Amino acid sequence: MLIRKSNEIPSSEITPKEAFDAFHNISRRKFLTGAATLGAAAFAASRVAGMVSPSQTAEAATSIQTVKSSLSTTGEVLTPYSKVTTYNNFYEFGTDKSDPARNAHTLRTRPWTVQVEGKVKQPKTFDIDALLKLRPLEERVYRHRCVEAWSMVVPWAGYSLSEFIKQCEPLPSAKYVQFLSLADPKQQPELHSVDLNWPYSEGLRMDEAMHPLALLTFGLYGQLLPNQNGAPIRMVLPWKYGFKSAKSIVKIRFVDRQPHTTWNEMAPNEYGFYSNVNPAVDHPRWSQKRERRIGPGFFPKMIDTMPFNGYGNEVASLYTGMDLRKNF
Ligand code: MTE
Repeated sequence: MLIRKSNEIPSSEITPKEAFDAFHNISRRKFLTGAATLGAAAFAASRVAGMVSPSQTAEAATSIQTVKSSLSTTGEVLTPYSKVTTYNNFYEFGTDKSDPARNAHTLRTRPWTVQVEGKVKQPKTFDIDALLKLRPLEERVYRHRCVEAWSMVVPWAGYSLSEFIKQCEPLPSAKYVQFLSLADPKQQPELHSVDLNWPYSEGLRMDEAMHPLALLTFGLYGQLLPNQNGAPIRMVLPWKYGFKSAKSIVKIRFVDRQPHTTWNEMAPNEYGFYSNVNPAVDHPRWSQKRERRIGPGFFPKMIDTMPFNGYGNEVASLYTGMDLRKNF
């Protein structure tokens, strides 16, 4: 999902044929991506992970108390902290995987508020420190699958979004929830070098948002979120491709219609509104059948992708009657 203005793309990055063809086929905006490029990027990142200096190191991070959760995935090898925090997608800080760790130190996470508006009893503003205390933070180990076909296993910390939604008192007319990320060129100098319609916007149907697996997330590895991972508050939706999980959220809007979402608006035939992980529906330019699991080893491991990223028992019933090949 790499986008750059055409004159900024070095020729070395458009050498793979798939990427070259993709670039020349997109008419609406200049757009470059491709499995070959992404594969190379994942490989390169796995080699350098730990060599990029993250904006917040394990030592500097703030510890948080978490409780065990019955909704945690068990038996998976965790992706090391050094890789979770140096191989990121956060285009507000640049498009290379190593950019957010390098650049996100300019993000100021205090003071921070989350505004709630739209179809609610009354608009409210929540302070981040009040949100941190609203419920005990649970440690939830989840598989994290990006649409680019890499994946990780991350011990996140947070509580179910549904707990927060109860505080928002949505009206019966609220059918969808929209999440809007910070868009501040002062804190995010790379913002306007990326051709996306800012602020980053994502959304869920109300019943998806109320599902207990949908995690309002404040930390990882027992520490507050590093900036590059979406501090101070982000979503994590383990059964969906990673781009559904907006980072650094400043506004949550309850609406009666499906909201516009950044990647869907950018390329609707490539990034659906639902975007549930589905090995049976390929991205138009690469397969989604397998994924590169970034783990402790030197090389990522190729593994089969599971429907709903392995969370089908929990969430499949949300989509009964929907043709997920068409309504991806
Ligand atoms: N949120 C914002 N605001 N901006 C982004 O660029 N990237 C998305 C998602 N949330 C993104 C975002 C994508 S494509 C993915 S895969 C995940 O964040 C990556 O999360 P991670 O860097 O913590 O692994």
